[in-house]
Amino acid sequence: MSTTGGLPDPALVVLVGASGSGKSTWAAQRYRAEEVVSSDALRGVVGSGPHDLDASAEAFDILDRVVAARLRRGLTTVVDTLGLDEGRRTAWCTAARDAGLPAVVVLLDTPPDVCRRRNRARDRPVPAPALTAQLGKVSALGAALDLEGWDIVQRVAGPGDEPDGIPERPDRPTGRRDERRSSQGLRFVLQVSRFPWGEAPAGWLSAVATAADEAGFAGLALMDHLIQIPQVGRAWEPIPEPWVTLGLLAGLDTGLELGTLVTPVTFRAPGITAKAAATLDALSGGRAFVGLGAGWWEREHAAYGLSFPPARERLDDVEAAIATMRALWAPGTKAAAGLPETTGYPRPAHDIPIILGGAGARTLRIARRLADGVNVATGNVDRAIAALEGTDVTITVLDLPTIGRDREDTWARVERLRGSTPAAAYAERTHAGTPGQQRDRYGALADRGVDTVFVALADLADAADLERLAPLTT
Ligand code: UTP
Ligand code: MG
Repeated sequence: MSTTGGLPDPALVVLVGASGSGKSTWAAQRYRAEEVVSSDALRGVVGSGPHDLDASAEAFDILDRVVAARLRRGLTTVVDTLGLDEGRRTAWCTAARDAGLPAVVVLLDTPPDVCRRRNRARDRPVPAPALTAQLGKVSALGAALDLEGWDIVQRVAGPGDEPDGIPERPDRPTGRRDERRSSQGLRFVLQVSRFPWGEAPAGWLSAVATAADEAGFAGLALMDHLIQIPQVGRAWEPIPEPWVTLGLLAGLDTGLELGTLVTPVTFRAPGITAKAAATLDALSGGRAFVGLGAGWWEREHAAYGLSFPPARERLDDVEAAIATMRALWAPGTKAAAGLPETTGYPRPAHDIPIILGGAGARTLRIARRLADGVNVATGNVDRAIAALEGTDVTITVLDLPTIGRDREDTWARVERLRGSTPAAAYAERTHAGTPGQQRDRYGALADRGVDTVFVALADLADAADLERLAPLTT
């Protein structure tokens, strides 16, 4: 689950506090306007204005229905009322529990004199005795909130509690001096899987790579498929041959490591992949890597006249391919790995890392013996850690997040991208959040031992989209 300002997200968040304690301000600084359900605002909708107390019953009736509807869809909901009515409060808590969402209560424990001063400064102050009664109720609440069954009781002391920015983390030991690592100790590699390049393929690719370099990415990886896969786009959308494309990118003035994520072993004879990677490494001054996998999509094999043997055989081929590539990259020429000679020039400019894709038991066993890294989904990190314990095989993850500049932009993207998937489910699956929220998630991955995050954006349209990712790599 994601968090917002340290609170679970999605969640039901019920505000409690006297008039002028800063409830609406607190909510507006952290949540989208649509996520906040306010009794004042609803009084203005069904009555003459926010202070039309005659409209209270109807306003609360609608408020309860809005809360119920949003909870049913798993959407974050902030209840902005005084929150001092115990019956209403506990009913909302139960409703969140029934919907399977965390129930959070936030008590704005602002000093009484601050509430009074702010109240006096308003156009329509609450009568002083009413405010005094509210403040009495707030202070009487005390520990009672802790006994109401909330998952989280958060107390906000009042002025000065600003929303969280990007948290500072202690420096972690860094690897090679020229390696690009974030302050969380992670390397970020942009994985490009869709190519909305319009009329200018080379210009689009060059601009995206240059922007990734400027945004602090350590590398750029291309997906290797012959037909665009249904998880990403339509079959008639462009999906370029990656090794040719990487050759173009090698000619740009960037420090990006360049490779595939991942090349199916079924596409090219391993010697040919070794040749392409060695050439790329020579052209780029030692920045090539090879992502390798067993392949999975039968259709593209059939369409291109390639055979698609059973999984066990494909994994045998992965194992043999690693041996072949390493033999052809090693210095000197001799009989090796079943080859009569290893005459391959140009030699690569550095030791080309091989990253194996997949978290199957056999794949992880092969990686343990032969690979430099593995690439797994974020859900398989623990599996990979267990399988690779005691080795220096690095763990990399492929992450497909929805990232917006802020909460508003993030949810606009969720709404645009989700298709017919319910918004809450899409947001959860793609870990929708701001760069700050993504950093929290990535920090947790780094703490578990992840070395590199391959980031793939479902809505990468052009170079400008990469600017908002810069906070991740710092
Ligand atoms: P709010 O309007 O946020 O208070 O702030 P509230 O708790 O929601 O009040 P009710 O219950 O709806 O009446 C009250 C005033 O205090 C200022 C706000 O700008 C607003 O004018 N305020 C709030 C601050 O100056 N600083 C803060 O940290 C919070
Ligand atoms: Mg308010």
